[in-house]
Amino acid sequence: MDSISSSLAAVIVYHWRTNSVNAESFLRQRLICITTVDRAEDAVPLAEALFAGGLNVMEITFRTAAAAEAIQRIRQHLPQMSIGAGTLLSPEQVQEAIDFGAQFGVSPGLNEAVLDAAGERDLPFFPGVMTPTEIDRALSLGWKHLKFFPAEPAGGAAMLRALAGPFAHTGVKFVPTGGINAASLPDYLAVPQVAAVGGSWMAERKLVAEKAWQKITALTAEAMKVIAAAQTKS
Ligand code: 3PG
Repeated sequence: MDSISSSLAAVIVYHWRTNSVNAESFLRQRLICITTVDRAEDAVPLAEALFAGGLNVMEITFRTAAAAEAIQRIRQHLPQMSIGAGTLLSPEQVQEAIDFGAQFGVSPGLNEAVLDAAGERDLPFFPGVMTPTEIDRALSLGWKHLKFFPAEPAGGAAMLRALAGPFAHTGVKFVPTGGINAASLPDYLAVPQVAAVGGSWMAERKLVAEKAWQKITALTAEAMKVIAAAQTKS
């Protein structure tokens, strides 16, 4: 290996290690609530509703103009909540998410410019993958915690189990999202390479728009119960 290749390999290994440790800290509860907010003023009551249901990790998607301010408000008013930015599609959005306080980032696909921006800024990041080739590419770029998206249309927990098999020895971990709910949650949690599951079913955009905070708390508490039951079984 020449010296440039070995320096590059060292950077990838360093990045892999530091990012993995940081990424894992957001996956301990095994659940991330994915939310889309249309009004920044809904952000804090929404975060409080999730927190009341027992969950302390959430993602706000960059699909509305309110997203960055929503993240900032939650960081300021509910520091116990870990907050990530989702649907990051450009390096500029990665920077904006960091500037407004996002503690981790998520993207639906594997955009290398986005990953470079996250890596340069040490932002724990979950890039989206759906095929063996994409998993392979993500691993070779040094990213080990991957969003499996869209999980249900792609074949669900059975598909993820089959996909994960050839990569299990690499230490890859998945966060499946897309069409998952409390009923399908246990099947995903039973896949050994699944670190956590993500979904919007606890706080769908419509529920947030209706300020249905008690319902959001109840759905979150139900999901946390399902996770606790799954842990007891395993
Ligand atoms: C997303 O990024 O939209 C997530 O995958 C959420 O999917 P869901 O709304 O089907 O839970």
